[in-house]
Amino acid sequence: MGKLIVGNWKMNGSLAANQVLLDEICLGLQVRVLKGCDVAVCVPSVYVHQVQTQLKKSPIAWGAQDVSAHVSGAYTGEISATMLREFECRYVLVGHSERRQYHQESDAMVAAKAQQALASGVTPIVCVGETLAEREAGRTMEVVKRQLAAVVHTLGPCITEVVVAYEPVWAIGTGRTASPEQAQEVHAVLRTQLQAACKEGRMPRILYGGSMNAANAASLLAQPDIDGGLIGGASLKSSDFLAIVDAANAA
Ligand code: PGA
Repeated sequence: MGKLIVGNWKMNGSLAANQVLLDEICLGLQVRVLKGCDVAVCVPSVYVHQVQTQLKKSPIAWGAQDVSAHVSGAYTGEISATMLREFECRYVLVGHSERRQYHQESDAMVAAKAQQALASGVTPIVCVGETLAEREAGRTMEVVKRQLAAVVHTLGPCITEVVVAYEPVWAIGTGRTASPEQAQEVHAVLRTQLQAACKEGRMPRILYGGSMNAANAASLLAQPDIDGGLIGGASLKSSDFLAIVDAANAA
């Protein structure tokens, strides 16, 4: 399976800026041959329709950054997986550390969100990762395994259908990337955990996220268990994002 590069725009963008950014990325991809490398952008939900319209005829998939754990009803402000599906979202991020941290999302809630997404045909990108305090206390593996186990437990055999993203919280938006060795070490543990859960089934891709950029992408993507990247800051500049796609294509 080729690599997967996903842009996470977070709460950035405007109608005008999105159009320019996507035009530039589409133009850049036109002159490249994607060798099995998949590319996607996860955008603020209000822009999903704009992005759908603009990317329809492109090789780029799109998605949202969160989804409700509920099917429908009295959940003011929430957006359901079926709504995302109506706008042909291929992916949705679930359990991003900013949601866990600022919106108190528990492991169980993240698992319920992943389940809703899958039930509607949207691939959840399940984010896991330890804080700096947890890493320093030597608890990295315990934390990421616990976060992933909740999703494995809820999805059962359907776990083969997700994408996992390892994002150490201390590396997100800080410019402090995990070294390729640090990232690989965690990816290998997650791979083993997924292998046990997936039995003979297809293996989910495991992305790395956290200050991945044009300069460090190649060395991270060269690791045997790193199947792609979840890119925040560097996904907002077309030249940086395209450089990461190039690194993925060459890996
Ligand atoms: P960053 O964000 O690339 O800006 O560190 C990654 C993410 O939060 O998905």
